[in-house]
Amino acid sequence: MKMLVYGAGVLGSLFSARLHEAGHDVSLLARGDRLAALRRHGVLLAEGDSPDVRRVAVPIVDHPAGGYDLTAVLVRTHQVDAVLESLAGLEGDVLFLLNWAAGAEPLGAVIGHERVLLGFPTAGGKMDGDVVRHRASTLMNRLLPMPIGEPGGRSTPRVERIVRTLRTAGINAKNEPRMDAWLRTHAAFEVALGRAVDEAGGPVVLADDPDAVRHMLRGMRRNLAAMPTPPVPRGFAALQTLPEGLLVAVLRRFLRSSTVANSGLDSATPAAATAEYDKLAEQLRV
Ligand SMILES: NC(=O)c1ccc[n+]([C@@H]2O[C@H](COP(=O)([O-])OP(=O)(O)OC[C@H]3O[C@@H](n4cnc5c(N)ncnc54)[C@H](OP(=O)(O)O)[C@@H]3O)[C@@H](O)[C@H]2O)c1
Repeated sequence: MKMLVYGAGVLGSLFSARLHEAGHDVSLLARGDRLAALRRHGVLLAEGDSPDVRRVAVPIVDHPAGGYDLTAVLVRTHQVDAVLESLAGLEGDVLFLLNWAAGAEPLGAVIGHERVLLGFPTAGGKMDGDVVRHRASTLMNRLLPMPIGEPGGRSTPRVERIVRTLRTAGINAKNEPRMDAWLRTHAAFEVALGRAVDEAGGPVVLADDPDAVRHMLRGMRRNLAAMPTPPVPRGFAALQTLPEGLLVAVLRRFLRSSTVANSGLDSATPAAATAEYDKLAEQLRV
């Protein structure tokens, strides 16, 4: 399977490196300074704060040449429109692995409905200069596999093939039949979380302010209550049913965890994160 990973930030770099190391035919599409850096030294990876940096020589491209069986798009929500335009004239399946609460319709309208697959990257990491510092594999990663699925929810040979391919690269993927509801549920949680982190000036500052955490939780509850379907995964329903005091304590602990410290929430590019939350909030409102 000939693959293109579109977007050479944290997770595009990480996934393309894993696929390349597993022997797959994969290229990574980059632009600007990141393109120049990747051409100089390839993808640089380190686990958490480790001083050990690994170099992976993934083939780098600056435009989608075509002939790909699968393109995996890993950009921010507000960056998707420009990517769609550049994929419109091409063929092959396109898996959107990102925060997205607008469903498959607007994606398919530009590139062709039959090409669209939805997913979400459950890995985490951040840029440290040119180095991608990714989260170590934890019990939570293993319990929360990376969901991918057909917009209509069917299990199809192409989804099964992509799941198998990702697993050969150590990416714990699984077929998710309710991908659209999964993404909306996640957006309901993430928009309130991202906004609160932004306003506080970082996850740890937010954790130190119980009133701000309570305000964030109420935002999550309002978002979830407005959804037309029950939360997916079902575990998110706990945000609506458990006592507020208990949830505030759990969320404060989560905000101080290494999961958040090694994620885009503690981002070196706050402007990109803010623009992404703006777009995601707009999709959620609709
Ligand atoms: N990082 C995490 O821990 C994490 C965890 C879970 C989910 N996510 C989600 O996963 C998605 C990807 O996250 P990420 O952290 O990998 O984002 P990121 O680090 O911001 O990477 C996005 C990359 O795509 C590039 N890009 C955007 N539009 C492009 C275009 N038209 N042509 C070429 N390159 C383009 C960006 O380049 P520029 O820098 O030049 O814009 C950037 O290098 C987001 O929705 C994010 O919220 C992230």
